[in-house]
Amino acid sequence: MRKIINLLSAAAAFLAGLNIYAAEDFRIMDCETAYHKADSILKTFSVEEKCLMVRGYEKFFIRGYANHGLRPVFMCDASMGLRLSEKLPENLIRQLDSSTAFPSSVLLASTFNPELSYEYARALGEECRAGGVDILLGPGINITRQARCGRTFEYMGEDPYLTGTMAAEYVRGLQSTGTAACIKHFIGNQTEWYRKSSNSIIDPRTIHEIYLPAFKKCIDAGAMSLMTAYNMLNGTHAGENRELIKGILREELGFKWLVMSDWESIWDLERMVHSGQNIEMPGDWDFGTGVQELFDEGKITMEELDDMVRPILATCIAMGFYERPQYDSSYSERIPEHVKTARKVAREGIVLLKNNGILPLSGGKKILLTGKFIDEVPRGKGSSIVTGYNNTLLGRELAGIYGDDLLVCKNPGLEEIRKAEVVILSCGTVDSENRERPFELPEEEEKWICSVVEANPNTIIVMNTGNATRMTAFNDKAAAILYGWYPGQEGQAAMAEIISGAVNPSGKLPLTIEKNFADSPGANTLPKGAQFFNELKNERMIKFYDVHYDEGVLVGYRWYDTKGIEPLYHFGHGLSYTSFSLGKGMAEVTPDGRIKCEVTLRNTGRREGKEVVQLYVGEKSPSVVRPVKELKAFRKVSLAPGERRRLEFVIEPDEIGFWDSAENGWKTNGGKYVISVGTSSGDTPLNMEISL
Ligand code: GLC
Repeated sequence: MRKIINLLSAAAAFLAGLNIYAAEDFRIMDCETAYHKADSILKTFSVEEKCLMVRGYEKFFIRGYANHGLRPVFMCDASMGLRLSEKLPENLIRQLDSSTAFPSSVLLASTFNPELSYEYARALGEECRAGGVDILLGPGINITRQARCGRTFEYMGEDPYLTGTMAAEYVRGLQSTGTAACIKHFIGNQTEWYRKSSNSIIDPRTIHEIYLPAFKKCIDAGAMSLMTAYNMLNGTHAGENRELIKGILREELGFKWLVMSDWESIWDLERMVHSGQNIEMPGDWDFGTGVQELFDEGKITMEELDDMVRPILATCIAMGFYERPQYDSSYSERIPEHVKTARKVAREGIVLLKNNGILPLSGGKKILLTGKFIDEVPRGKGSSIVTGYNNTLLGRELAGIYGDDLLVCKNPGLEEIRKAEVVILSCGTVDSENRERPFELPEEEEKWICSVVEANPNTIIVMNTGNATRMTAFNDKAAAILYGWYPGQEGQAAMAEIISGAVNPSGKLPLTIEKNFADSPGANTLPKGAQFFNELKNERMIKFYDVHYDEGVLVGYRWYDTKGIEPLYHFGHGLSYTSFSLGKGMAEVTPDGRIKCEVTLRNTGRREGKEVVQLYVGEKSPSVVRPVKELKAFRKVSLAPGERRRLEFVIEPDEIGFWDSAENGWKTNGGKYVISVGTSSGDTPLNMEISL
């Protein structure tokens, strides 16, 4: 017997060493059963209990009812880690004295690695379970339309296919721990300038081809909740927009689960009740009337009330919230692992935009490190903020590698700049929710950077920011540029590993970086004469203003391709310390009508590296204005020097269609299409024609 016990304990130790997480994936209850149980509970609710349930409780809860055996359900921000906010009721998240600050979502998207997105969100889900968070208020999946939006760092870029693919795996990874995802902000929330008063005017085709697909992919992946946006959509606030919620979300996309409003985003409670919304958050706004009064006055029916409460109950039942205690401390032992995940993602999401060969930077040279984020953590601000712990700092990490060869100086003179053999200049922005920020760096900062690259041709720029930022003035003279986004608590260590060559960069831009903001399709976002920073504390004080999405489906690279505008850096661009080549490709239509494409990728350099092969499709003679090409598949591949890999892609015809507004449905024309394959939207050397 003793031998068996020893054998078993050895096996367990072996498995633990392999970090094979023993817990089973959480299985969400099927919809029919959950709704059946919800109905049986709903029958026992009084009218008052129903009326209270459709509004938030204590800012971040769904109300509980001890008399029905239902505990309160806790929601917490956000997509990049748990925000341990002092605003939360005292008893909350005291199980965690810290939470991991994972890299920003836009950096996660830059990895172009869906499996990594799953791992990232699974780790975050484990922290949720340890911290008693039932619903994580993420992932944010708004498509990037313009470079001034202060929340781009919380999202996954300009392409619906990339965002949908990465976010769907995020949803699966998060929910595998029994934590519900909350995909947001539904839809048309592409500006932060007085967002509650902005009215996004978007045509149906653009809604379906650009702003819905990522939500649809996440819904198909099983997302268990959704948050509506602050802005109006075509004249009605998204949180009380019946056509959007009942029409598009429920009927067209078939979303069955919990819909919540964004915090203080509802303007008319009665209109909200009729819209298909389930719960108004945070629940403490005085509308001058309450749900009970509306019911008593006959303005809402019992059926409407039940239709609001039922999905709330069904979601909580399906996720097992009522069957388990809020906290599960067994997940705490997983948390040390999450630092490794945060580092892994940062390593794969930092983008090497330019390199004249100065990187990787070998030792033995006098290096001057200067600039903004050398001794502070670059991160965005707002509801998504995560402070993390043991945050790495660029100065300290580089000192650990280069020792006395590294001189750190915040404000060096030009003479010191000239004397250095290499300069590493850290710059960037602090982007924030509820703020637009200029595409350009502050004038003085840009001038300083220009003077540094002028004074020393061996200058490496490290840009930490949440969106595209103007680099045109100093791009050409910089020896190298690394785009670090907001890389989280492990990010500066990962940046130092990339600079030294310990890690080979493999990030790709999930959004275009234009040369000048006037080139952007979203240049018209702000009203004439608007001042950038919202000083008004009450966002409701400004009169409503329209944001015309006149570019339609031509968002991001779709715009620059079609308009023939050369950006500074293309969507999908990112360099490596090795080199790759694409061999001859093949594309054909299979007998069952699918598009099959095969290409060979080869590592032609001297070190292991990862490359992202991207497949775009464009209709040759479209019947409506269509982008020149659109991303329809990608694959990230790791190859040893000299290794080659044959990659196969299969695309269904309905994946390359367009939304026919006349027919109110998807349509794929027959005729010729070009399959373009490359390693950036600006570099697709393989172009193969097929006919449907
Ligand atoms: C915020 C954000 C939303 C967040 C919510 C709760 O204003 O728009 O993303 O989850 O309120 O903090």
